Amino acid sequence: MKKASLVILLIALSCLVVAGVAYADADDGGTSTSTSVSASGVSGNVKDISTGAAIFGATVSDGSVSATTDANGNYTLSLGAGSYTLSVTKSGYLQTWQTTTVSSNTMTTVNWSLTKSYGTQTPPAKNMAFTILAWNDLGMHCDQDDYSYFCVLPPANTLHAQVFHDGDLSTGVTVKYSFPKKTDSTLHTNFWTYASNFGWNLAPNVGLTGNGLSGTMTLDSSGKGFVATAIPITPYDDDGTWDPYGAATITVTDNSGHTETANVVAPVSTEMDCINCHGSSTVTPQADILQQHDKNQGTTLYSDYLAGKPHLCSECHSDNILGEAGKSGVESLSLAMHNFHKDKMNFTTASTNTTPDCYNCHPGPSTQCLRGVMSRAGKSCHDCHGDMAALVNNTYPNSSRQPWLNEPGCSKCHDSKHAENANTLYRNSVLQNSPSSDMNNKIYCEACHNSTHAEFTTANVVYNNTVMNSSDQAIPEKFQGDNYWIWNCQVCHTDKTQQSMHK
Ligand code: HEC
Ligand code: HEC
Ligand code: HEC
Ligand code: HEC
Ligand code: HEC
Ligand code: HEC
Ligand code: HEC
Repeated sequence: MKKASLVILLIALSCLVVAGVAYADADDGGTSTSTSVSASGVSGNVKDISTGAAIFGATVSDGSVSATTDANGNYTLSLGAGSYTLSVTKSGYLQTWQTTTVSSNTMTTVNWSLTKSYGTQTPPAKNMAFTILAWNDLGMHCDQDDYSYFCVLPPANTLHAQVFHDGDLSTGVTVKYSFPKKTDSTLHTNFWTYASNFGWNLAPNVGLTGNGLSGTMTLDSSGKGFVATAIPITPYDDDGTWDPYGAATITVTDNSGHTETANVVAPVSTEMDCINCHGSSTVTPQADILQQHDKNQGTTLYSDYLAGKPHLCSECHSDNILGEAGKSGVESLSLAMHNFHKDKMNFTTASTNTTPDCYNCHPGPSTQCLRGVMSRAGKSCHDCHGDMAALVNNTYPNSSRQPWLNEPGCSKCHDSKHAENANTLYRNSVLQNSPSSDMNNKIYCEACHNSTHAEFTTANVVYNNTVMNSSDQAIPEKFQGDNYWIWNCQVCHTDKTQQSMHK
C-alpha cells in the first residue's frame, strides 16, 4: 500500500502541481533591496563570479537606456516606475539578464556576478556512442542514520537520465545504474529493522518503490527520459567514508552493442542538526525531541519508542513528498516544523550569509547542499524561499502553498526566455524555446542545468581538505569538456552552428 501511494505521488508531482510562480513573486526578501530617494531607477555592482573582482566598463541596459560600470564596478541607471528586464554585457563574459521592479522615488539595488565566456574546445561527446545527461532531482536528499526513535524521512534518492545519439533522443536503449562504492546500506543505517513500524514492508537494501542500490532505470511518465525513484543510499561508502556526494554509474547499451557510461551525483546527507538545540549529556537528541513533543502535545511518542514502536512523523502530519495524508486537523510536517521553530532560531550560530537559519536542519555546515551558481552569486535560501515566517505564512492553510508541490521558480529573477514552464516545477519543466521546434519540449531543464541548489556552475564543497562534490560536474566535464551547463550544440549534434540555446 505504501508502495502504491508513493508511485501515485510521483505521478501527481508532474500533473497536479500548481504554479510556484505566485508564491515565488511574493514579497519575502526578494532579489533586490530598495532605498527611498527623489530619483528612481536601479543601481548596483558588477563583479566576476569566480574572483569577486569588480568589473569596469560593463554595460547595464534595459534595452533603451544604458549605464557603464566605474572602476569599482558600480553603476546607476535612471528609470521610471515599472517592471524591467535588464541585461549586462562585457567582452570576455557571458551576457546575462535579470528582471526587477522599480517604484517611484526609489533606487532598487540589482547586483551582478558574471561568468567568463565559453571556451573553444570540441566536445568529447562528438566521438562517443551516446551523450548521457543524468541528474538528481532535488540537489540534496535527507535521511537518518538511526530510525529506532522515529522517522522524518526514509532513505530515498531519485535519479533521472536522458540519452542522445546524433541529435536524436534515444529512448529504445537500456539504462542501468549502480553505486560502485555503496553496495550495502544496511552497514550504515538500521532503517530496515524498523521500516515495518512506519508501514513499509521492505527487504534490506530495497527502497520505497522497489528499487535497490543497482538496477535498470525505466522510462518516465512523459516518455522522454529514464528514472529510478527512491534509491535507498546513505551518505557513507561501504568502507565507512563519509561521502554525501557519492556517484552512481549510469550505463547505456543498445541492441547493436554500443555502450557508454556516465557518473552522476546522488547527494544525500543525515546532517539534520537537531542536536544544535536538542539533547544533553543525559538525553539523546532524539529522546529529547520525543519528550518535548509529548510534553507539549500530550502524545506518547517516547513511551512508544521505549516499547520498540517508533512512529513515522507523517503518520499524523501530512507529507506530500511521501504521499502521506496524515491525520485530519493536524498540521503538515513542513508547517509544524517551520512554524514551531521559526522564533527559536537564535539558539545557534550555525548560520552563514547564504544559508541563514536553514542550515540548522537542512544539510548543513559540513554538507553545504547549497552550492549552485546562484549561491556563488551570493543568493541565499531567503532570496528564493523567504525566511521561516514567510514559508509558514505562505503555506496551507495560512495561504495556498502546498509543501513540496509549490516551490520557487527561476522566473523570480530571470527573464521570460529563461523561465520554468507555466504552472510546473523546475524539475518537471522542459526547454520550450530552443533553436528548433523539433527540439522543443524534449529536453529537461535539469538535463542541461542540473538540479536546484546545484545548478551549474557549482561551487566546490571542501571537507577535510578534499573537494567532496567533484561528481556534481562529472557529466559536462566528460561530454562537453568543461564544467558549464550544457551550451555546446555539438554535445548532441554533429552539424549545428553555435548560437543561443533559449530563443
Ligand atoms: C533570487 C534570484 C534568482 C533565482 C530565483 C534564480 N537565479 Fe539564476 N542567477 C541569479 C543571479 C543573480 C545570477 C548571476 C548572473 C547575474 O548576475 O545575472 C544567476 C545566474 C544563473 C546562471 C548563469 C548564467 C550566466 O550566463 O552567468 C544560470 C544558468 C542560472 N542562473 C540558472 C537558474 C535556474 C535554472 C534557476 C531556477 C532553478 C535560477 N537560475 C533561479 C539569480 C537567480
Ligand atoms: C535552533 C534550535 C533548534 C533546532 C536546530 C531544532 N529544534 Fe526542535 N525545538 C527547539 C526548541 C527551543 C523547542 C521547544 C522545547 C520546549 O518546549 O521546551 C523545540 C521543540 C521541538 C519539538 C516539539 C514540538 C511540539 O511542541 O510538539 C519537536 C518535535 C522538535 N523540536 C523537532 C526537531 C527536529 C526533528 C529538529 C531537527 C530536524 C529540530 N527540532 C531542530 C529548538 C530547535
Ligand atoms: C501520533 C500523532 C503524531 C505523531 C506521530 C507526531 N506528531 Fe507532531 N503533533 C501531533 C499533534 C496532534 C500536534 C498538535 C496539533 C498540530 O500541530 O496540528 C503536533 C504538533 C507538532 C509540532 C508543533 C507544531 C506547532 O506549530 O505547535 C511539531 C514541531 C511536531 N508536531 C513535529 C513532529 C515530528 C518531528 C514528529 C516525528 C518525530 C511528529 N511530530 C510526530 C501529532 C503527532
Ligand atoms: C527546525 C528544523 C528546520 C529548519 C530550521 C528549517 N527547516 Fe525546512 N524542513 C524541515 C523538515 C523536517 C522538513 C521536511 C518536512 C517533510 O518531510 O515534509 C523541511 C522541509 C522543507 C521544505 C520542503 C517542504 C515545503 O514546505 O515545500 C522547504 C522548501 C524547506 N524546508 C525550506 C526551508 C528554508 C528555506 C529554511 C530556512 C529559512 C528552513 N527550511 C528551515 C526542518 C527545518
Ligand atoms: C536560487 C534559488 C534557490 C535557493 C538559493 C534555494 N532554493 Fe530551495 N528550491 C528552489 C527551487 C527552484 C526549488 C524547487 C525545485 C523543484 O523541485 O523543481 C526548491 C526546492 C527546495 C526544497 C524542496 C525539495 C526540492 O528540491 O524540491 C527544499 C527542502 C529547499 N528548496 C530548501 C532550500 C534551502 C534549505 C536552501 C538554502 C540552504 C535553499 N533551498 C536555497 C530554489 C532555491
Ligand atoms: C539544451 C540545454 C538547455 C536546456 C534544456 C535548458 N537550458 Fe537554460 N541555458 C542553456 C544555455 C546554453 C544558457 C546560456 C544562454 C543561452 O545560450 O541562451 C542557458 C541559460 C539559462 C539561464 C540564465 C539566463 C541568464 O540571464 O543568464 C536560465 C535562468 C535558464 N537557462 C533556465 C532554464 C530553464 C528554466 C530551462 C527549462 C525550462 C532551461 N534553462 C533549459 C541551456 C539549456
Ligand atoms: C542535449 C542535447 C541537445 C543539444 C545540446 C542541442 N540539441 Fe538540437 N536537438 C536535440 C534533439 C533531441 C532534437 C530533436 C530531434 C528529433 O527531431 O527527434 C534536436 C533538434 C534540433 C534541430 C532540428 C533537427 C535537425 O537536426 O535539424 C535543430 C535545427 C537543432 N536541434 C539545433 C540545435 C542547436 C543550434 C543547438 C545549440 C544551440 C542544439 N540543437 C543543441 C538535442 C540537442
